[in-house]
Amino acid sequence: MDWNDKSNSRKMPWKYEKDPYKIWLSEIILQQTRVEQGWDYYNRFVKKFPTVQALANANESEVFKLWEGLGYYNRCKNLIATSKNIAHDLDGIFPSTYDTLLALKGIGPYTAAAIASFAYNLPHAVVDGNVTRVLSRFFGIYTPIDSTNGKKEFSVLAQTLLDKKFPGIYNQSIMDFGATICKPKLPLCKLCALSKNCVAYKENKVNELPIKSKSIIVKERWFYYLVASYKDKTYIRKRVQQDIWQNLYEFILIEEDSFCAIEDVIKSKKYKAIVTSKAEIIKCSALCKQKLTHQTIHCIFIHLKLHQPLKMAHLELKDNQGMKKIPFPRLITNYLNVEIL
Ligand code: ADE
Repeated sequence: MDWNDKSNSRKMPWKYEKDPYKIWLSEIILQQTRVEQGWDYYNRFVKKFPTVQALANANESEVFKLWEGLGYYNRCKNLIATSKNIAHDLDGIFPSTYDTLLALKGIGPYTAAAIASFAYNLPHAVVDGNVTRVLSRFFGIYTPIDSTNGKKEFSVLAQTLLDKKFPGIYNQSIMDFGATICKPKLPLCKLCALSKNCVAYKENKVNELPIKSKSIIVKERWFYYLVASYKDKTYIRKRVQQDIWQNLYEFILIEEDSFCAIEDVIKSKKYKAIVTSKAEIIKCSALCKQKLTHQTIHCIFIHLKLHQPLKMAHLELKDNQGMKKIPFPRLITNYLNVEIL
């Protein structure tokens, strides 16, 4: 906190905010997103939906459109559900204790502690990646941060260290310290006020800590999108299944288990079941790719011109203007931005 008073110049739009709604919004955005990327999204959300009631009353597609590009769309789904819960079932009053915050959909121990401490100055320590990095290095703790034991150990330690008089300022300080001084790579140990007592620094182990036990297994998926147009409009579909990009839209998808030549896709049973009348293949994109945490999506867009409408269920036909209002995954918006239909 001394470092925070004297040397912390980090500015962020949600810093020292007291409105629990805005804190909640910022913390959900920042859960899997870097501060620099989340910054503009936060400002746009607060401007468009300044209160929990405004968010609860919004058109859901509009909210997803504003979230577009941030990824992890379950966060957005939970944001909508929880705003409705607060606005309609809790008389519009944001819960104000750790346990009642924790009971909300999409709010776990980290977010409950952040809102409780920042908005209400309640003594709950936040434990995120910044905090566990600082603590594992300073105390020389080798327990994996993602193990059951590690989670327990770091949360007990963080709670013990918390300044119980100024929990909000303490939590913000340690997160900023982890983000700017005790960084994952090239930490600024030479400038660090804690280095004299830092176990990892003294033992030259800063680059080895924190320890993570699990390495992520990445699944490869192959998407072939039929960008099918009929009378200057394009067919799209909402993704409703329990899978990536739930509630976003896409073109007509043919998924294969491995790379397939375009000619083979067009000859496949899946293709013939969708495109039942004569269609012209206008062009095909290069192979595109989007990396998610647990999956890599490889994708080719195949443009078709139809002379008969398609009969597949749940299709929507949109013109170019209509397409602009639709929330798509980043893979598709990136493609649309270069390839104006
Ligand atoms: N990451 C998540 N929440 C944060 C906050 N309030 N300040 C800095 N980094 C954060």
